[in-house]
Amino acid sequence: MSENSNTARNKGTAMVTGASSGIGAVYADRLAGRGYDLILVARDAGRLETLAARLRASTGRKIEVLPADLTRAEQLAAVEARLSADPDISLLVNNAGISLRGGLLDNGPAELAGLIAINVTAPTILAAAAARAFASRRAGTIVNISSVLALAPEMFDGVYSGSKAYLLNLSLQLAGSLESLGVRVQAVLPGATRTEIWARSGKDVDAAMPGRVMETGDLVDAALTGLDRGEVVTIPPLADEALWITYDNARRALAPNLSRRQVADRYAFEVAA
Ligand SMILES: NC(=O)c1ccc[n+]([C@@H]2O[C@H](COP(=O)([O-])OP(=O)(O)OC[C@H]3O[C@@H](n4cnc5c(N)ncnc54)[C@H](OP(=O)(O)O)[C@@H]3O)[C@@H](O)[C@H]2O)c1
Repeated sequence: MSENSNTARNKGTAMVTGASSGIGAVYADRLAGRGYDLILVARDAGRLETLAARLRASTGRKIEVLPADLTRAEQLAAVEARLSADPDISLLVNNAGISLRGGLLDNGPAELAGLIAINVTAPTILAAAAARAFASRRAGTIVNISSVLALAPEMFDGVYSGSKAYLLNLSLQLAGSLESLGVRVQAVLPGATRTEIWARSGKDVDAAMPGRVMETGDLVDAALTGLDRGEVVTIPPLADEALWITYDNARRALAPNLSRRQVADRYAFEVAA
């Protein structure tokens, strides 16, 4: 066994993006508690350092801070390079993300491209780097933080929900294709959760979702329970699991019918008499 192999005692290193606040900061706390060393990624180096110092003191784990703006190509490349080169990394939590002030009509190209850069491009590139590295070691886990809005586009603006649907789609395909290579993939679909993302995008979560806001600790603890259960898709607020299973089965039942040589009868071209 090599010096860098992840033994039962040493779970290896988890890289958590968006670890400076909200869901990412709680993942950092819980994963350090579970015995992972950490690499914490976000733009705010000060907040990352404060969290790292607290977790080093409380858990004794090795906690590294890797400040990066994941919308900047060269900084994203540095994080990607670390994922590719560090054999101790066993878990990637693709968590960093933003929401818009307003929707498609209220935002210009810079804001729209910025959301896609952090919610879609960055997690894709990091997932690819992690998948290649983990597959070469035949071990590792990728967690993508999607949203229940991936399933409910009518509830919110379509740019944000579309970015989260993208992550669900990516996760479902990767989970199936990477399983035989020893790589696990989980998509986590939070509902409204009490974090800064709401205020950062000019919203009041309690006004938007009165009485239906989950606390961040509960969300992350449930997501980790879902990971322990071996789930590919974890929806912490969904009480009736059968609803998801029914939906997923209906979606999968479409698949054999979605490519045919003939157009469906209802689209058949009729020559006017
Ligand atoms: N809260 C909810 O209701 C909810 C529901 C469903 C899904 N989610 C998803 O959960 C994830 C975490 O969000 P949150 O709710 O915990 O919100 P949050 O507290 O605002 O956290 C977002 C994190 O992303 C980081 N981040 C933002 N832009 C970045 C950039 N350009 N480069 C690097 N890091 C960046 C932020 O750190 P810096 O500012 O320091 O860079 C912060 O650590 C997101 O993907 C979000 O879409 C949230």
